[in-house]
Amino acid sequence: MSPKFKNPRARHNFVGRTCSITGIGSYVPEKILTNHDLEKMVETSDEWIVTRTGIRQRRIAAKDEFTSDMAAKAAQRAMKMAGVTAGQIDLIVVATITPDMPFPATACLLQHKIGATGAAAFDLEAACSGFIYGLEIGQQFIMSRTYDTVLVVGAEKLSAITDWTDRNTCVLFGDGAGAVILQNRERSHGLLTAVMGADGEKGDLLFMPAGGSRCPASKSTVNARMHYLRMEGKETFKNAIQAMKSAATEVLRRCEIDISRIKCVIPHQANRRIIDAVGERLGAKPEQLFVNLEKYGNTSAASVAIALDEAVASGRVTRGDLVLLIVFGAGLTWGAAVIEW
Ligand code: ACO
Repeated sequence: MSPKFKNPRARHNFVGRTCSITGIGSYVPEKILTNHDLEKMVETSDEWIVTRTGIRQRRIAAKDEFTSDMAAKAAQRAMKMAGVTAGQIDLIVVATITPDMPFPATACLLQHKIGATGAAAFDLEAACSGFIYGLEIGQQFIMSRTYDTVLVVGAEKLSAITDWTDRNTCVLFGDGAGAVILQNRERSHGLLTAVMGADGEKGDLLFMPAGGSRCPASKSTVNARMHYLRMEGKETFKNAIQAMKSAATEVLRRCEIDISRIKCVIPHQANRRIIDAVGERLGAKPEQLFVNLEKYGNTSAASVAIALDEAVASGRVTRGDLVLLIVFGAGLTWGAAVIEW
């Protein structure tokens, strides 16, 4: 794979308008599923899961708790921090591969739940890369002066599409949501530059076979367990390291900064070994890397949003710090962004 990136403008060159993250919030469900719990469900061990992935536990949404519910809780926390009312939101973008239902969009359900009656709303599907895709889309609407206040959410109920009999995948994923409020602020900080990429040729590395127009739901698709996520772990692993390194290198080049200037690198929280390999290839020091996957597993589109929220809440990231976000997911898709917090 040779990632190509288009549109090489660094956003901090835009005069008089910046796209700031004025609020951030996250939510994870109460229920904790530990590696020891999984030992009772499939043939696995805490030792295997920790050494291969770094994950120790994950959160699982309640039966009657859906992606839009988790999105609403994260969104309300972000709105509170930004001091933004529902009526001020112009646009809602929800990144998810686990919408409440195929349609209407989870973003519309969220709009109703938070009472943002004046907002346009749509979902975007870029799997684990969805949050950076959402940031870039939100930024475009702000920089073009179309909207002043955009809510971007990454939210997933992956437990609903996890095959709990497949040890290759069921140990990896968890549920949760993260949200940000993007606004124009006439200060030189905010989302500096983002890059996005995709390689559809490798779509079969990570996919859900049924439930779409190619293979609508039927008795046979259910019996064949085709409504669950499937993954070629080893190939995904290799592609993730290469794509995340390329995306991060490109975004740093566009910002004309060295990795040493970055206070905190927040990679997609899929696997500790991927995070360490990407960090090493970028020349990042271990203390620059933010890791919380031991608590939540891979929450796909919510992953870097939850991690950024925790990095801010814990004081790892403070106002003025440069943060590098890096993502990778099904599609294949990938991306990176530099934020001046
Ligand atoms: N417990 C015990 N053994 C297991 C388990 C388990 N949970 N899962 C697999 N094994 C076994 C396999 O069956 C295999 O056994 P075999 O050699 O007898 O066939 C053995 O362990 C080794 O399996 P590998 O696939 O070689 O293990 P690997 O070191 O590659 O780790 C993993 C697997 C963790 C899935 C890794 O490949 C990975 O993290 N891949 C990337 C995932 C990722 O980044 N996803 C990001 C995108 S996700 C999204 O977009 C939604």
